[in-house]
Amino acid sequence: MTTTLVKGGRVITATDDSIADVFIDGDKIKLIGTNLSLQADRVIDATNQYVIPGGIDCHTHMELDVGAAVSSDDFETGTMAAAHGGTTTIIDFATQSRTGTMHAALDTWLAKAEKAVIDYGMHMIVANLPDSLLPEMDALVREGVTSFKLFTAYPDRLMLDDGTIFKAMRRTGENGGFVMMHAENGSVIDYFIRKFLAEGKTTPNYHPLSRPHATEAEATHRCIALAELAGVPVYIVHVSSRYAMEEIRMARARGVPAFGETCPQYLALAYEMYADGSFDGAKFVCSPPIRERANQEPLWNALAQDDLQAVATDHCPFCMREGYKGLPKQKELGKENFTKIPNGVPGVENRMHIVYQGGVVQRGWSMNRFVQVTSTAPAKLFGLFPRKGTIAVGSDADIVLWNPQRKYTISAATHFMRVDYNPYEGTIIDGSPSLVLARGRVIFEEDKFLGKRGQGEYLKRGTYGMV
Ligand code: URP
Ligand code: ZN
Ligand code: ZN
Repeated sequence: MTTTLVKGGRVITATDDSIADVFIDGDKIKLIGTNLSLQADRVIDATNQYVIPGGIDCHTHMELDVGAAVSSDDFETGTMAAAHGGTTTIIDFATQSRTGTMHAALDTWLAKAEKAVIDYGMHMIVANLPDSLLPEMDALVREGVTSFKLFTAYPDRLMLDDGTIFKAMRRTGENGGFVMMHAENGSVIDYFIRKFLAEGKTTPNYHPLSRPHATEAEATHRCIALAELAGVPVYIVHVSSRYAMEEIRMARARGVPAFGETCPQYLALAYEMYADGSFDGAKFVCSPPIRERANQEPLWNALAQDDLQAVATDHCPFCMREGYKGLPKQKELGKENFTKIPNGVPGVENRMHIVYQGGVVQRGWSMNRFVQVTSTAPAKLFGLFPRKGTIAVGSDADIVLWNPQRKYTISAATHFMRVDYNPYEGTIIDGSPSLVLARGRVIFEEDKFLGKRGQGEYLKRGTYGMV
């Protein structure tokens, strides 16, 4: 067992802020105090740096097969990139096929994830729910897959009707699990898609136009109403607009256990990305789409005021050009038809950068708030706290030294994600991780990867109720 002493840093949790030393024994935090005079195998000087809990990205899609393409990061490249940006845990989505069982999906995803360099949990995407599969949901909760994602969009692959959604919600309410909703009205979106294609409107700028914000707000309202009726806590993923966010805020004001996440792409990017109609817009084709700039400030405010609780990435990268690192055609599949562009954007590496710059540097957030939305809230909501999401005696030693003097320029030329563009290309961040520890091991130091393929562990998660 290796011991490490992180000395003299400003230790920040969601609630505390003090200059302290952190002593790590093996993979756990053993002691926190001032001027600890303990022998350690390694002493790390953290003077003038923030010492924060490793980030938790509770929404990623590594190696996700969306039909025509597979997302370009696998669990090794994607988790390496995550760690470089200060994220030491991801929760990915095992995705049930229309004809398969949930356990078959879990087995497939756990096999893919064996190469992860950081710890990972799994949610379950439910794509088909005959009554005969309901007991699987109970079993999965006992096995540590305590959250289920359901879709009101993507009619061909994933959308469920309201009755099936309600059935899944009821069961999840009974077994103590948590429901996550992809809330967009798939049928109305389908109407717009058909209309645009019939009119010969095939360029990427028709992607956002086919998914107006009312399709998201309506579905968000409906999902929350169904969850309230079913008696289950609900978490709306990838909230892109103020209108969907306001549905969550109103529900919470009524005392409904509704929660929401937004993503870096909705906080830092705007609709102009698509506006010229060029194929460059394909870089930003994700669902829900990136909205008008006027949505950004309400989303930042919602995070500051706890109307939204977490920032996750929905990391689902696809390359713009065929052949990058030997990968097949991906975004280019939609050159002639925007509906064939694989949906998703990269972000797992830059989530902490974007929230730090936009929240702490530009909007004066406390570091506590930064830690809350990037680490502690996801840990609590998804049954990982206090093992993850804080710096406390007994917690995993997932620790990031965040150096506020270490400027970082985001670029595809230097990022670790396996994708040939970065949506935040050229953005300067006034601070970045200088050292990243995952369960006590240094896995990044000054942009150098020191970890090992396969050293991440699968995390069985607790239930929402436990929290
Ligand atoms: O465009 C997106 N969001 N792709 C990933 C799958 C999903 O809906 O979360
Ligand atoms: Zn989704
Ligand atoms: Zn997603």
